Amino acid sequence: MNALDIDCQNIKPFITDPEIQSLQPDIDRLHQALEQGTGRGADYLGWLDLASRTSSEQLGTIEQSAKQLREHCDVFVNIGIGGSYLGARAAISYLSHTFSNQMSTKGSPEIHFAGHNLNSDYHADLFDLIADRDVCLNVISKSGTTTEPAVAFRLLKDRLEKKYGKAEAKKRIVVTTDQAKGALKKLAEEEGYTTFVIPDDVGGRYSVLTPVGLLPIAVAGIDIRELMEGAKTGELACSGSSGLDKNLSYLYAGIRHLMYSKGKTIEILASFHPSLSYVMEWWKQLAGESDGKEFKGIFPASVEYTTDLHSMGQWVQEGNRILFETFLLVGGSRRQLKIPAFENDGDGLNYLAGKTLDFVNDKAYKGTAMAHKEGEVPNMTITVKDRSPHSLGQLFYFFERAIAMTGYLMDVNPFDQPGVEFYKKNMFMLLNKPGFSKG
Ligand code: PA5
Repeated sequence: MNALDIDCQNIKPFITDPEIQSLQPDIDRLHQALEQGTGRGADYLGWLDLASRTSSEQLGTIEQSAKQLREHCDVFVNIGIGGSYLGARAAISYLSHTFSNQMSTKGSPEIHFAGHNLNSDYHADLFDLIADRDVCLNVISKSGTTTEPAVAFRLLKDRLEKKYGKAEAKKRIVVTTDQAKGALKKLAEEEGYTTFVIPDDVGGRYSVLTPVGLLPIAVAGIDIRELMEGAKTGELACSGSSGLDKNLSYLYAGIRHLMYSKGKTIEILASFHPSLSYVMEWWKQLAGESDGKEFKGIFPASVEYTTDLHSMGQWVQEGNRILFETFLLVGGSRRQLKIPAFENDGDGLNYLAGKTLDFVNDKAYKGTAMAHKEGEVPNMTITVKDRSPHSLGQLFYFFERAIAMTGYLMDVNPFDQPGVEFYKKNMFMLLNKPGFSKG
């Protein structure tokens, strides 16, 4: 069941059909490279078929661990950064109640994140929050050596051990890391923590459908089997055909590529649904780290409408014409609110009485898309049917395929991130980390 749709009407004035069709031979060739593992970064193609090769037993182990964690804590702290953080946060924010943390009950813990920054106030405030609560930790790092989560884990582990004693703290800590290497793996072995493995052939930002994402998502009470089923639907749709009339991921990738070649070097992903906020953060990381290299790449940005129509909207409408825009819509809200009629129409809103908020929001979207097209911002719209795990699984897969294909079209390796090392080298040198000398 397809949960995604793309509307390209507002791109048409900027790209011709023959231009799109001209990409088909390249896309066919690069599709084969992806499918057969002959392209750049081919050691990291494990994400392509995660949904179909993850066994029911593997999912069962994750579900079992999630169940225990849900039973044992009021607060679940998920520690990680980048690809070891954003997928879980995206899924949990998209699928949960907006205020789930404020409404948590016994058996469904609050979920908080740590290790995605090095800020003292953030982590000190988190300690205040967890002080009198029962806490479990999940620390995720593929390399097992990333500074931000390692520091946060050390701080939180220290708290837990002081609060519960070493033996009980151990039971409250889960680790997700490489199967053989890294400091975290070594520590997990020494301490005997429950451990989940990140497959060697899956890079961080493509890892949401491994235990990296699945465990925290399951702890949030979300059906990970449905998420994987959705991803499988995406997988089958994408692997079955490279035709631009059938493969929506490749159509999106092709349009991105053409936009870039016409000087539209910034893509803004624009939502009208606050639950998509972290899905857009996840997408930014996926697109930015995959395609921004060798002095090439579309700069991925995001805006949340209608909020940002009152801040960034002016820039989008009339600023430098280097943008194209992808609206990311949700087919419908879970619940409908109708605007009431008032006898005294003092606020002048009776013309909307009886209309739903979704109706008004949809008109805001249509008005914006039209205005931006007229303002020379080519735009297209991706609609995801609903806020279900199945639809989100498809959306994750859709974007992963599309971003990988865009990277191949630009002739970069979408699966490495050499540029990330530069700040680390300087930071380690400034911190006098052994092995990182000055000069
Ligand atoms: O996509 C990536 O590979 C990165 O964003 C990593 O996920 C991020 O740097 C964290 O790395 P690690 O999981 O090794 O701690």
